[in-house]
This record gives sequence, C-alpha cells and structure tokens, in this order.
Amino acid sequence: MKGSDCSKRAVGVAAANLVENGMTIGIGSGSTASCFIAALIKRVETEGLHFRAVATSLASHTQAQQGGIQVLDINEVKGLDLAIDGADEIDAYKQMVKGGGGALLREKIIASIAHEMVVIVDESKLVDHLGTFGLPLEILPFGFSHTLRAIEQKKFKVSLRVNGANKPLLTDNGNYIADISFSEPIEDPEPIDYTLLKIPGVLETGFFLGLAGRIFVGKTDGTIEIRP
Ligand code: A5P
Repeated sequence: MKGSDCSKRAVGVAAANLVENGMTIGIGSGSTASCFIAALIKRVETEGLHFRAVATSLASHTQAQQGGIQVLDINEVKGLDLAIDGADEIDAYKQMVKGGGGALLREKIIASIAHEMVVIVDESKLVDHLGTFGLPLEILPFGFSHTLRAIEQKKFKVSLRVNGANKPLLTDNGNYIADISFSEPIEDPEPIDYTLLKIPGVLETGFFLGLAGRIFVGKTDGTIEIRP
C-alpha cells in the first residue's frame, strides 16, 4: 500500500463505526472504500452487526458479499440511510471529482438516494480548486467518437480511457470512460457540468456537487478530522 494507506484504513474504520444495526447503506468504490468495507466485515464477524447494503461497483459488491454482508439490488431498496464513498478531489465547499475507478455513474445514483453521503478521504485528496485530477465522464459506446468530438468542440481536452490491451475500458454498465484534463484550476464546476451534460452521449460527469455530507479526513499522523 502507498504512504496514505494508514490514513485510508483509519477513515475506513471510523466510517464503519457509523453503521448501525438495521441500516441500509450504500458502499463506495476504490481503495479507501475497500478499507471501509473491510472494517465493516470485521464488525459483522466480531459483533454480528446486521445491515443491508447496495454497492457502487461489482468489485465492492463482491468484496462485501464474500465478507458476509447482505448486498441487495438497488431496486430492492426505497432509499439509503448512508452512502459512504471516497473521492479523487474535494474542495473546501465539498465539491468533488470522482470516477478515478470508473464507477462514477453508480456512485452518483447511490449518493443521490442516500439520506447522507459520507465522504472518506486522506489528506492528499483535499484541494483548493478542483481540476488537477481531471474529470472522468461516463459515455455511451454508441457514437462515442462523435461524443468525444462534441466535447472537444466545447474546448475541452479529452481522451478515451483504455485498458491494458489498448481497448476502451468498459464500466460495470458496459459504457466507456472519457477523461477531461484541465490546464488551469477550475473556478466554478457548475457551468462545466451543465455544458457537458447537455452533450448527447455523455451519461454522467465525475463532478459531485451538493452531494457530500460529513467528510472524514484521515491525517498522516493517524488522526481523523470530521468536517460537518
Ligand atoms: C471510483 O470510481 C472513484 O470515484 C473513487 O471513489 C475514487 O477514485 C477514490 O478512490 P481511492 O479511494 O482509491 O483514491
């Protein structure tokens, strides 16, 4: 694991302690969310904690289910008490970029049906302005070359994410991921989000605006800061 792994484990444990018997929760994707799922599994094993979950990716679904967590189809639940997920960047206004792992569409659906989205990050994810990470988009394979061209015509630099075989990376939904890179920090993500979502074929952007509740920040000294 990398330098911040200790912080990821610490926020994972802290977030797992938010889960109570009888809750229905959304579980995120990525390495920090994986620490959270591992901590949940430990609580299931040691305390017999009982809750239901929906997962933002097949990988998280598998990890949770193999650990004895009851994982449901999203259509079986009416809503979620909590959704707990990581982020690639988060600013002081709780605006986020997500989708580094390509799960942004399911992550956003799950965050949007949760009573609260709790974000778990290490300090490296805190930024003054979004933009350095870039912006992942989920796009439809049908007509993707035209979708990419339309994005470029709006003056964005965009590339299709590919796998090791240089083929388009497929999301769990069977779609593609395109990554926008920015040459300057983003002052206001809202109009960018609006512009991109109007392009046919763009299914969702990795901007998560107005969705985050509490932020759990794992510090390098092992402590956790909770931002309300
Ligand atoms: C997955 O698509 C992402 O949105 C993740 O939540 C994000 O990339 C954070 O992942 P890490 O915890 O691995 O940095």
